Amino acid sequence: MIRACVIGWPISHSRSPLIHNYWLKQYAIAGAYEKKAVEPEQLENFLKNLEPHGYAGCNVTIPHKEAAFKLAKPDEIARKLGAANTLYIRDGILHATSTDGEGFIASLKADVPTIQLAAKSALVLGAGGAARAIIQALLQEGVERIELANRTPERAADLARHFGSRVKPLAWQNIDDAMREQALLVNTTSLGMKGQPPLIVELRKLPLTAAVADIVYVPLVTPLLQAAVQRGNPVSGGLGMLLHQAVRGFELWFGTRPHVTPELRALVKADVEKS
Ligand code: ATR
Repeated sequence: MIRACVIGWPISHSRSPLIHNYWLKQYAIAGAYEKKAVEPEQLENFLKNLEPHGYAGCNVTIPHKEAAFKLAKPDEIARKLGAANTLYIRDGILHATSTDGEGFIASLKADVPTIQLAAKSALVLGAGGAARAIIQALLQEGVERIELANRTPERAADLARHFGSRVKPLAWQNIDDAMREQALLVNTTSLGMKGQPPLIVELRKLPLTAAVADIVYVPLVTPLLQAAVQRGNPVSGGLGMLLHQAVRGFELWFGTRPHVTPELRALVKADVEKS
């Protein structure tokens, strides 16, 4: 019996158990995936006892992503991000990685199979942890230039500095003009999420071939995605990123690389629609 879990504080909202337990059943693996509420003061102790408590690893969510990275052996991606969302044990050593970026790219490619990222330009809104993971993944995919706008400009400038010359900070008021010649627009902010203000941007100058992606998945179709669909842009919603980021963790703990099936999507979609 292999066990894994997701830890956070609070943790009740996590949909990871729904995803991993679906796969465990689908692949007939004798395993369990649980939700664990772990207070920040308990994190170190919890991770020290992960293996003795019978876990092969865990997902890590708010507020533990940075602390978990420091308490485990990070791979190159986690090191570049300074954060981790997936921990796994190999030969008694706790390893840390981040799968958010690959989840974003896999979801984007599944939703917009024709997308070409190499040598293209992308516009990223937001400069938090999600933006960091997505920018890292886009650069890895060969995106030549990323324009980065954030409500708090200093955070965009800091992140641009962190990634180097291919990432340029952009003033929030210049977003609408910067839409020209983008192959991709990504919202990584919480704007558009249920209970938050909508993201108000003008898509008029965005090429119709450009993909529009949103990491928000409550609601499943945000006002930004709605506007993009209406004018004919291909879109990619946040639910796909949530599903695809789970793939590698499952593979690391349970040894089978799982598929994001329409049935899984429908299961999680129904759960989101309930909320
Ligand atoms: P995450 O790790 O999920 O990316 P985060 O680090 O809290 O979360 O980042 C949230 C992002 O949403 C930030 O870019 C934030 O902008 P600030 O850096 O200015 O805080 C953005 N955001 C949240 N609420 C916003 C709002 N009302 N208007 C504009 N941007 C907002």
